[in-house]
Amino acid sequence: MNWRAPQIVVRASQPDCTAEANRLAQLTGLPVEEFSESQESVADGNSSPWTLLVKPLELSLIRPDGLSVEIDFIRGKGIQRSREANFHSQPLARALSVKKFRQRTGQTPSIIDATAGFGTDGWMMASLGCKVQLLEASPVLAAMLMQALDNARNTAAAAASDSTLGERNGCNPAHNISVINTDSVQYLNNHGNAGADIIYLDPMYPQTRSKALVKKGMQLLHELIGPDNNGAKLLNSALNKASYRVVVKRPKGAPPLADTTQFTRQNFTGHSFTEHNFTGNISTVHSANTRFDIYHIDRA
Ligand SMILES: C[S@@+](CC[C@H](N)C(=O)[O-])C[C@H]1O[C@@H](n2cnc3c(N)ncnc32)[C@H](O)[C@@H]1O
Repeated sequence: MNWRAPQIVVRASQPDCTAEANRLAQLTGLPVEEFSESQESVADGNSSPWTLLVKPLELSLIRPDGLSVEIDFIRGKGIQRSREANFHSQPLARALSVKKFRQRTGQTPSIIDATAGFGTDGWMMASLGCKVQLLEASPVLAAMLMQALDNARNTAAAAASDSTLGERNGCNPAHNISVINTDSVQYLNNHGNAGADIIYLDPMYPQTRSKALVKKGMQLLHELIGPDNNGAKLLNSALNKASYRVVVKRPKGAPPLADTTQFTRQNFTGHSFTEHNFTGNISTVHSANTRFDIYHIDRA
């Protein structure tokens, strides 16, 4: 529990990227390190800062020991999954229940992914044809998401491979995604018209496996973000603002995100949670390592 946020500096990888590095430093509130040819090697030791390295059309987040992560929607895990033949019947798609929503309303559900992270799940939701708003509290991740989306929007290949990138009409999922750097609890609570048919939550969960077994992206994410302690608040805000369902991703065997007996109308206690249309009905979809808890909203 003695997590400390790493220090991060923004650095241009080449002189051409200096203006973009300065822009990102302003956007994220991080210090910028002037470009110099001698900065090629990566610093070591725990006290050295991490680097947000600004390359042409790419941002790399680099730990002092050189371990790095990028967000790349075009070559990433999300796109691989969305190309799988059974994509529409995979657990995420079943948990969102896009097909049933369409049958009922004739429309595709709008989604707020209130814990965007690397945007992998968000990309998959957009690949199902949904409009997805990514909310991410970390300014660094939000900047990386925005850059990756710009790249995906501009990549001709993305639009060309019609049957795989988008569900219908060869649409590029990147055009269905927007990003806001914000705290989702604040955003959902304070914006009267903030809301969506589905709100998706995948908060950080304490690492249970040894570091060696955890993929490098997740390792860096845990060190960058630290533990999330706002699960109950997130769920409460989401239940207030979703009109169809709230879907919560949990590791297999993990407890539910919060004790929802406090949330139902029948048991509503009034002090810390506001009233909403949550029916009290929760169903689950299981996959190998993950569980999706689905909180059904009363649409009456
Ligand atoms: C496990 S990651 C999500 C991974 C994501 N589903 C993906 O596919 O890459 C959790 C993310 O939620 C973000 N987060 C947690 N609480 C948040 C909040 N209240 N508002 C916005 N983002 C939040 C964290 O910063 C972190 O990036």
